[in-house]
Amino acid sequence: MKITFYGHACLGIEVSGKHILVDPFISGNTKAAHIDINQLKADFILITHAHQDHILDVEAIAKRTHAVIVSNAEIASHYSAKGFNCHPMNHGGSWNFTFGTVKYVNAIHSSSFPDGSYGGNPGGFVIVGEHKNIYIAGDTALTMDMKLIPMRTKLDLAILPIGSNFTMDVDDAIIASDFVDCDKILGYHYDTFGYIEINHEQAIRKFFDKGKDLMLLEIGKSIEL
Ligand code: NI
Ligand code: MN
Repeated sequence: MKITFYGHACLGIEVSGKHILVDPFISGNTKAAHIDINQLKADFILITHAHQDHILDVEAIAKRTHAVIVSNAEIASHYSAKGFNCHPMNHGGSWNFTFGTVKYVNAIHSSSFPDGSYGGNPGGFVIVGEHKNIYIAGDTALTMDMKLIPMRTKLDLAILPIGSNFTMDVDDAIIASDFVDCDKILGYHYDTFGYIEINHEQAIRKFFDKGKDLMLLEIGKSIEL
């Protein structure tokens, strides 16, 4: 499984020959100006919630790639009505896709579309791939529901927001990594705009002091699991 960070909360995942994009917000991210959305491959686009900083490039990429949009029922029906190919889910449900199993799990946040229309309840995804399992938390507060995840799934990587203000901060993300029983963490949802700037060295040190590995990838860089 190869995971690429495209800035903010956008990820590319390659697994079992499929390309998955998560929360594409690239063309509006000045820090990701070197990423061309017209070059990105996508068989599936996973969306955690309807906020602009998670959906901005969904339509452009889905139009070109014909990717299947996977999200909560309300977001899926929003894009279905526009003619896109969608797979609706809701909290607690799983589906076996061609690349692995996806479970839509709880996130404590909100989920309106940019025009204020209802975007269902926000979530995260647990992906059980052929060899590796990951958790993409989405925008969320620290929540006890995270403790449910390791009851079913042994994670190899937890992707957690760490920017504070709109989501967990670094200290809560450390507790979250305990809750999901995973000491390998990829941080996201930080530095994109003023409210969520963090001190990288301090964040990495805080995780390190708890025996955990926080990775902060440059935009466009990948890790292999
Ligand atoms: Ni959000
Ligand atoms: Mn966000």
